[in-house]
Amino acid sequence: MERIETLEQLRQWRSRQRQQSLRVAFVPTMGALHQGHLALVRAAQQRADRVIVSIFVNPTQFGPHEDFDRYPRLPEQDSALLQMVGCHALFLPNHETIYPAEHQTTVQVTGLDQKLCGRLRPGHFQGVATVVTILLNLVQPDTALFGLKDYQQFVLIRRMVRDLRLPVQVEGVATVREPDGLALSSRNRYLSPVERQRATALFQALTAAGQLYRSGENRRDVLIDQATGILQRAGIHQIDYVELCDPDTLATAPEQMTDDVIMLIAARLTGARLIDNLLLTAH
Ligand code: PAJ
Repeated sequence: MERIETLEQLRQWRSRQRQQSLRVAFVPTMGALHQGHLALVRAAQQRADRVIVSIFVNPTQFGPHEDFDRYPRLPEQDSALLQMVGCHALFLPNHETIYPAEHQTTVQVTGLDQKLCGRLRPGHFQGVATVVTILLNLVQPDTALFGLKDYQQFVLIRRMVRDLRLPVQVEGVATVREPDGLALSSRNRYLSPVERQRATALFQALTAAGQLYRSGENRRDVLIDQATGILQRAGIHQIDYVELCDPDTLATAPEQMTDDVIMLIAARLTGARLIDNLLLTAH
């Protein structure tokens, strides 16, 4: 695996792939890699001849009181994992490479960045949209892969790529979970054993809502109340939202639902804020 730190190295690597007409797939990450990230790498290997992963803990997507300083940074462990799964290149840019001192431009996906997590984390999605645009422009991949675990991020990036006509294909990859259903996340390590147990309620709430919808209950608020009740009974009381939305646009689902909808949950435990989602199918 090639370790790329400078723009010159990246340009050389990219032009070598182009000379050989090799398709390049790109997986942007913030590191502290787990099986969820590795599933993206494996999916990337299916879709292209060469896979490049970036690790950059992007300061502009963290709020002033969020966990930027304590976000886990494990470049050597990450590099060994990527090597093991057969990743071809690892891009480790420093802050100056992504945000030179004179940097002034941001990318905003209006509307989509104001709802759900965007409402509670002002500026977060602007930081994501900006860094992903910069990374895509630097790496120039044929395909870029994102996890459906961060569903709003996926929808927003897909919208941005379409709106800005960025020449890249965006693909979503299914969420990888622990055996008890908890979605893998670099932030799960912040949970105490008691909270780790509680955290399973997110997936339980989602699957229970899915069953209820399939069994014929189509009132949006009934499904939301049921999922909220499951979280509360598990001892999760700081619920940022439980919402049902259109899977393509993230518009709020109608009161009486007929089509597939996505349920999205965000809740705060003492150690970490967790998010999860599930597509609920009508029949
Ligand atoms: P990060 O949280 O490191 O996630 C990198 C990618 O891994 C994202 O596309 C995310 O959705 C995916 N991912 C995380 N957990 C997953 C799981 N359990 N199953 C499947 N995929 C999972 O998301 C970011 O970094 C950043 O916002 C980034 C896009 C890199 C921009 O800074």
